[in-house]
Amino acid sequence: MSPILNASQEAINAFGKSTSQFNHNFAESGLFTDEKLAELIERYPREYYMLNTMTAQGDKPEWRSGEINNVSGDKVLQALTDGRIWLALRRFDVVCPEYDELVHDAFSEMEALQPGLKTFKHNSSMLISSPGARVLYHADIPYVCLFHVRGRKKLWLYDAENKDHLPDSTLEGVILRETEEEVGYDEAWDKDATQVVLEPGTALSWQLNAPHRVDNLDGLNVSITTDYFTPYAQKKYGVYYTNGIMRRKLGIDPKSTNVEGLSAYAKCAAALAIKKTGIVKVAERSMISTFTLDPQNIGQIIDLPDSERTEIVQL
Ligand SMILES: [Fe+2]
Repeated sequence: MSPILNASQEAINAFGKSTSQFNHNFAESGLFTDEKLAELIERYPREYYMLNTMTAQGDKPEWRSGEINNVSGDKVLQALTDGRIWLALRRFDVVCPEYDELVHDAFSEMEALQPGLKTFKHNSSMLISSPGARVLYHADIPYVCLFHVRGRKKLWLYDAENKDHLPDSTLEGVILRETEEEVGYDEAWDKDATQVVLEPGTALSWQLNAPHRVDNLDGLNVSITTDYFTPYAQKKYGVYYTNGIMRRKLGIDPKSTNVEGLSAYAKCAAALAIKKTGIVKVAERSMISTFTLDPQNIGQIIDLPDSERTEIVQL
């Protein structure tokens, strides 16, 4: 089998730790043509996709969730090309194993290239978004690798260790799923951000929990985004999860965010126990549908009246 990845030694060494940019040949699979994407959209069950619209780049950030509303796959693609819409087709493992296999092969290759690298809990989504769409400033819980396939986008990457940009209590809230992973943002931080323009065929992974935002530049944007954990990511998750519970339920301000050592080990064990027993309930976010695609005017949306706004259930 010919290789999927083309990566410098520097990118290979950085993968699963810090910013790593390299090339991939996903497009050669033939799985990313308009026809294939339209087919894929049509077979997606409601509980595995998210559709969003947002205010324009430069305007006050606002992000809303909505419904495809039985619009056919090719028309959804047209709406994505003409409107300002973002579609995430989640859980490849359940819905489309042929795409999951591509990602699996790419990760196997990277693990072969970097001895000692161990990644797990891979969870991939297809992101299809309009030329003028954007993703607001947020931090993700796991590591992320973005395999960009079509269109061009700019990713703004902020330092995860800067506690002004990402206070510990905010990251705890993300990990406890209190927020939609959107966190406080100030334009003034942009001067400290790293900007990366993603061309078709490039992939990017970055520092764990590093806040980022995305501005699409041109073309219909198509990417696969894959969440993954490493042993370090899993330990950091456990520490912040337990610190978050301590702060919220016990009124303790946790001083240590250290991921190594006995106290980190105890926090990871506590996080596992708390999650397993469900003894502590945290206020998880809910998502409400506020619009549908307009089947008559492709690229437009219809605002739902309050009486028709329902909670979006995702599995
Ligand atoms: Fe993200």
